[in-house]
Amino acid sequence: MKELQKRAMKVLENNWKDGFSIPCEALYPFQWNWDSGFIAIGLAHFDMEKAIKEMETLLDAQWENGFIPHIIFHTESDSYFPGADFHCSYLHPSAPKKYKSTGMTQPPVAGFALQELYKISKDKENILATIEPLLNKVYKNHEYFYNYRDLHNEGLVYIYHNWESGTDNSPLWDDIFSTMQSPEFTFERRDTTHVDASQRPSKKEYDHYLNIIEIAKTHNYSDQKIAELSPFLVQDPLFNTMLIKSNESLLELYKIIGNHEEKIQKLEVWQAKSIKSFNKKLFNKELGAYIHYDLRNDKPLNYVSSSSFTPLYAGIPTKENADILIKTMMEKFGKDHQYLCASFDPTSERYNPKKYWRGPVWINVNWILYNGMKKYGFTEISERIKNDSVTLVEKFGFYEYFDARKSEGETGYGGNNFSWTAALIIDMLNDN
Ligand code: SER
Repeated sequence: MKELQKRAMKVLENNWKDGFSIPCEALYPFQWNWDSGFIAIGLAHFDMEKAIKEMETLLDAQWENGFIPHIIFHTESDSYFPGADFHCSYLHPSAPKKYKSTGMTQPPVAGFALQELYKISKDKENILATIEPLLNKVYKNHEYFYNYRDLHNEGLVYIYHNWESGTDNSPLWDDIFSTMQSPEFTFERRDTTHVDASQRPSKKEYDHYLNIIEIAKTHNYSDQKIAELSPFLVQDPLFNTMLIKSNESLLELYKIIGNHEEKIQKLEVWQAKSIKSFNKKLFNKELGAYIHYDLRNDKPLNYVSSSSFTPLYAGIPTKENADILIKTMMEKFGKDHQYLCASFDPTSERYNPKKYWRGPVWINVNWILYNGMKKYGFTEISERIKNDSVTLVEKFGFYEYFDARKSEGETGYGGNNFSWTAALIIDMLNDN
């Protein structure tokens, strides 16, 4: 175990740049929003200064309206497409001059990442003083979400691009893409020069991805226009779980710090409303799982993915529904020949165990599920998901994602020496 932890630390040391971490060499050469949160948690176990710096750098790229972008292009690099010149974040009046970024965001992990730093730190007083201004930025980010992305005032925020979900090419999005007539873009893929194309999204999918960005750019990334016109507009259970968990972290930390009454009140109102709507709108009894809701086409996306179980992490399900979730997970994802937890329903014909978010196991989602299951007292399964994560990394290396099958084709895929895989393995190894 000590050996594995040392190797994980080495991965993070190598991926540390000037004030932030890249997710991995060549494939992802900039700073990614939710990667940074997970990476900071791992860094905190052996280098708190870097962990704080990682979060400070991310939050320094916040826009005036509270928005935090999904990629911050700190350096020039031509090993990634689409880069800063495609995204043109400067089109939005709130975007800072100092940074080039994308005009979309990612699951809001910053709140709970900061709370993890606080939990890991041995110097509680000092860390609270250091993170207080960062918490205020995260609060402003949540205000942005509830002000601009909660269309029906139900406490559930939307994402307007599949890249905002983090689960980029999940089969969930197929139904939405089939409603779109995206033009054929001419461009040079970079990802498939680093990773085999069979493990990455297709060209047709990239056309849809670029098309949604073009529509947003035509309207200078205006939230109102995006809500009105984006062909992709989804309430995602993973994304909303991250927001709700981060709300809870802000609440707990503000209560410890004191003198934040107004914010605490606002957070409590958001929490109550969000959790209520989440259970009402996104829990599908027949499937025994949480589902996504397609706001643009006004219909639920009735599929089970690893995102379906993540609400455990924010304490969203009742104990009764938590039992149902675990039953569904074990029946579909948890047979003896499977590692937990495939990213998409292995019993579905859309399942592909090699292709990015269409089936493989991801360590960040495993970490979320591990912590969620522990919270509800599902000790045996939480131990299994932790052991599966450690086994995969020990056997194959610090890959970006892994085949969920235990026999045929067992291996790691995508980028190697991947930062959040290393970071979250360190965190799980230190959690008993
Ligand atoms: N993960 C995306 C990519 O593969 C961007 O966030 O490029």
